[in-house]
Amino acid sequence: MKLPLEATIVEVGPRDGLQNEKKMLSAEQKVHLVERLSGAGLKRIEVVSFVHPKAVPQMANAEKVMKGIKRRPGTQYLALVPNTVGAERALASGAGGLGFFVSASETHNMHNVRMSRQASMAELARVSRLATEARVPLRSYIVTAFGCPYEGKTPASTVVSMAKQMFDEGAAEVCLGDTTGMGNPAQVETVFYELTRQLPANRLAAHFHNTRGAALANVYAALRAGITTFDGAVGGTGGCPFAPGASGNVATEDLVNMLEDMGVHTGVDLDELITCALEIEDILERPLSNSVARAGPSWRLHDPPGRL
Ligand code: COA
Ligand code: ZN
Repeated sequence: MKLPLEATIVEVGPRDGLQNEKKMLSAEQKVHLVERLSGAGLKRIEVVSFVHPKAVPQMANAEKVMKGIKRRPGTQYLALVPNTVGAERALASGAGGLGFFVSASETHNMHNVRMSRQASMAELARVSRLATEARVPLRSYIVTAFGCPYEGKTPASTVVSMAKQMFDEGAAEVCLGDTTGMGNPAQVETVFYELTRQLPANRLAAHFHNTRGAALANVYAALRAGITTFDGAVGGTGGCPFAPGASGNVATEDLVNMLEDMGVHTGVDLDELITCALEIEDILERPLSNSVARAGPSWRLHDPPGRL
């Protein structure tokens, strides 16, 4: 099996990871976390979302966080937005990239952003114009891309047509989100093969939640289909507040450990990342499901010391 030599990690812990946590982090705590993550070598970090503070109170300090980060050259600081109001807030705060999201499921989209999918797509076109004017790239998520807690399995044809439309509207990258961990590796491989027959693999990304324990297997399936950009959340935090049963993203440290151990270079310092994961666990005051933060890197056990 020929695997790529490199993969890009998009760290979504400060946004996806914290949006559903009972414990609210201060802007200072979030800024510290983001700076530590960039220090660990993560070059793309989704820092916050500019959503309605009543919908997601955990993101109410988004402006303060985005403006407070000491920027590291070469690192992209992304903000997730649901509409033009969010995009304007994000750009005014200095976001280096916008993330927009539309669900593959009409029911989930209504719960999540109180709009039809068609209205969200129209909003995407407006957000795309704002991003172009500000010269920042736009990443567009297809939420519930593999399955939806309200509507069940998502047909591959829905994902393909949404991805095409998102690129047509100006997205630089389309990311498939398995919001409640309903995808399985066979499905993931099929969907990404279908997409990469028609669209460039280097502009596609995968965002897996580990709700049913399949996230790393799904990463491997996507890799086999040619995908090289993967989202992760440090400590395995995360989940959509508007999807029943949602739980954590694949832990970035588990993702980095698996990729590096297979010879896929990520540029991330795993020891440093593990320290961040343990710190997050302390701050949230609850045990997280981050295997590698507990067990240590695989190669500590079977490789000569010094590889790190
Ligand atoms: N940030 C802050 N305020 C916003 C906003 C945003 N992104 N978008 C709209 N508003 C404000 C409007 O300006 C308006 O204010 P006003 O009453 O003072 O005039 C008010 O909210 C209502 O606007 P409306 O467009 O009707 O929004 P809504 O109440 O239907 O809510 C969303 C729509 C998208 C803003 C809201 O559902 C939301 O923030 N969802 C986020 C979901 C999420 O984060 N999910 C997890 C990520 S997958
Ligand atoms: Zn997610």
